[in-house]
Amino acid sequence: MKKAKSVGLPLIAATLALGAMSSCNRSEHTAPSEHADHSADGIAEKRATAADPHSFSRPREAVVRHLDLDLVVDFESQTLTGTATYEIEAAPEADEIVFDTRDLEISSVIVTAAGEARQAAFSLSEEQPFLGRALRVELPPAANTVRIAYATSPQAAALQWLGPEQTASGKPFLLSQSQAILARTWVPCQDTPGVRMTYSATLRVPKDLMAVMSAENPTERAVDGVYHFEMPQAIPSYLLAVAVGDLEFRSIDERAGVYAEPSVVEAAAWEFADVPAMMTAAEKLYGPYAWGRYDLLVLPPSFPFGGMENPRLTFATPTIISGDRSLVALVAHELAHSWSGNLVTNATWDDFWLNEGMTTYITGRLMEELYGVEYAQMLAVLGRQDLLATFEEFDPSSPDSHLKLALAGRDPDDGMNDIAYEKGSAFLSTLEAKVGRKRFDEFLRGYFSHFSFKSLDTETFVSYLRENLLAGEANLSQSPDMSDALNLEAWIYGPGLPAGAWTPESAEFDRVEAQITALEQGTEPADLDTGDWTTHHWLHFLRKLPDRTTSAEFAAFDIQWHFNTSGNSEIQSAWFERAIEAGHTDVYPALGEFLLRVGRRKFLKPLYTALAATPQGLSWAREVYGEARGGYHSVSSNTIDEILGWEAGE
Ligand code: BES
Ligand code: ZN
Repeated sequence: MKKAKSVGLPLIAATLALGAMSSCNRSEHTAPSEHADHSADGIAEKRATAADPHSFSRPREAVVRHLDLDLVVDFESQTLTGTATYEIEAAPEADEIVFDTRDLEISSVIVTAAGEARQAAFSLSEEQPFLGRALRVELPPAANTVRIAYATSPQAAALQWLGPEQTASGKPFLLSQSQAILARTWVPCQDTPGVRMTYSATLRVPKDLMAVMSAENPTERAVDGVYHFEMPQAIPSYLLAVAVGDLEFRSIDERAGVYAEPSVVEAAAWEFADVPAMMTAAEKLYGPYAWGRYDLLVLPPSFPFGGMENPRLTFATPTIISGDRSLVALVAHELAHSWSGNLVTNATWDDFWLNEGMTTYITGRLMEELYGVEYAQMLAVLGRQDLLATFEEFDPSSPDSHLKLALAGRDPDDGMNDIAYEKGSAFLSTLEAKVGRKRFDEFLRGYFSHFSFKSLDTETFVSYLRENLLAGEANLSQSPDMSDALNLEAWIYGPGLPAGAWTPESAEFDRVEAQITALEQGTEPADLDTGDWTTHHWLHFLRKLPDRTTSAEFAAFDIQWHFNTSGNSEIQSAWFERAIEAGHTDVYPALGEFLLRVGRRKFLKPLYTALAATPQGLSWAREVYGEARGGYHSVSSNTIDEILGWEAGE
């Protein structure tokens, strides 16, 4: 730690104080110390330390409450430059506040105490893989604001700077992806989901582009390229988000709308027309939507995820615009995070299932409400197939198949997988089946209200579950019998799927399987009964095709059903995966085009993995990847580098 310079800066003090006062309408804040600590029982004892192993910050000593960002977005140098000014709360004895940073250039830090601003001493710790460097700022007594002047690196892992050739409009585009611990690569922050803050921001961007954030957004372009944002609800850092591009806004109804590049915005607004009905259904089940508006931002196809639940503004891949609204479960999923995740948040990434398992469960409920039980059953069966396939990838003794993860010492991105989503949702569906839908709905509604704008860990969830749902049920948790469907220990700290778990079924998929049997018995593709099949029937069909299906048969399928050129990305990627496995190299031209255009990791990972299984496939994949890699977000290229054994600088 450098020695404090203690230079009095009265002018800066005045502006700083004004800036700090400008935010209004704050929601209640939650200190990590407000995390509920429940009774010591078997599971509570397992609680390790409440600290987040993926953050250097020590929020119990000094915590951020509000962030005010002022940044210049420079496409030329691919950097953000400016200041992050925090209102903080420090314990009386605290003499420093700690932020997470990674690849940030910190130029100065100014701290205000008792209305007086001074240059503060600060230090950056040694760089640690994926965690970055702790920024320690020395605090005088009664310090209440900290202003950090900084610049991002062109390599900032959260940010992707797209060139004109990567967008529909031919204009450049900037997008961010902060979850899980990448916010620290574009904002110095207490980068843990256990800390929440409100924020405001001023962004200065090229005049022909529009800026949007996970906040109250503009609907028109600003002539001077200067945009102001307010986020009056307190959020964790992983929900900080920014995008800058040639954007237009279309309203869906008075609460919902869509932002996209001009040539995409109409199709997007049509595709997402059911969003208002989803919101109404979710509110009826789980209580009022807490975030004001719900808009979607459709990104260029390099966006590494299907969707990201940035509050007020879900970020979405354009690959869900299929032209028939058949992939909107993804929108329901991101919307559901407005309750599970954004309103009630996992305390650390080890508790990730609280965000994703709960959200997957709610998505199923919303889809049932909107499109009927058969639709929801198909989604549930596909989800269960994903789960079983994921279990196959793990050593049965690996803690990575537990709901409660143990990610300390690792990049959380490596340990976050389908288990949280599908085993988590299976756990909740099993609970629902046990106590009945009515009681379970009441329980969840109470849960969202009790923990709203708070973060909680798995153990706190389990205590709350016991007290508020299971208290009346006999022998639920203490059963030594691992086959008990409600053996909470087995669900939370055990591998695989506990026996007695709720099992999804779909009569629609039985129909699909009957056609596969007919195919195997010699019926020609043209004579199969597929006339009323939807996207999900086709996905099941492709997944269930027997492994012995030959390349010639795949060729016949494509003649009949045109999978190669399907406008449906889910069908295309399922098709490519099976075709690669069957050695049906005819798909390579279409596959190559897909891999060059789409950066969504969920598609890239199985496709490159299937290719890498044979020497010829691997060599072709490396060729394509060499060309495609520069267009992928770091989240995707990190994963694919590993699959293909790609060395830095290749
Ligand atoms: N929050 C996740 C995305 C995420 C998870 C980002 C972990 C970084 C780390 C988002 O809500 C999500 O789950 N997206 C899925 C879609 C969903 C329908 C399963 C995706 O992108 O595929
Ligand atoms: Zn999610």
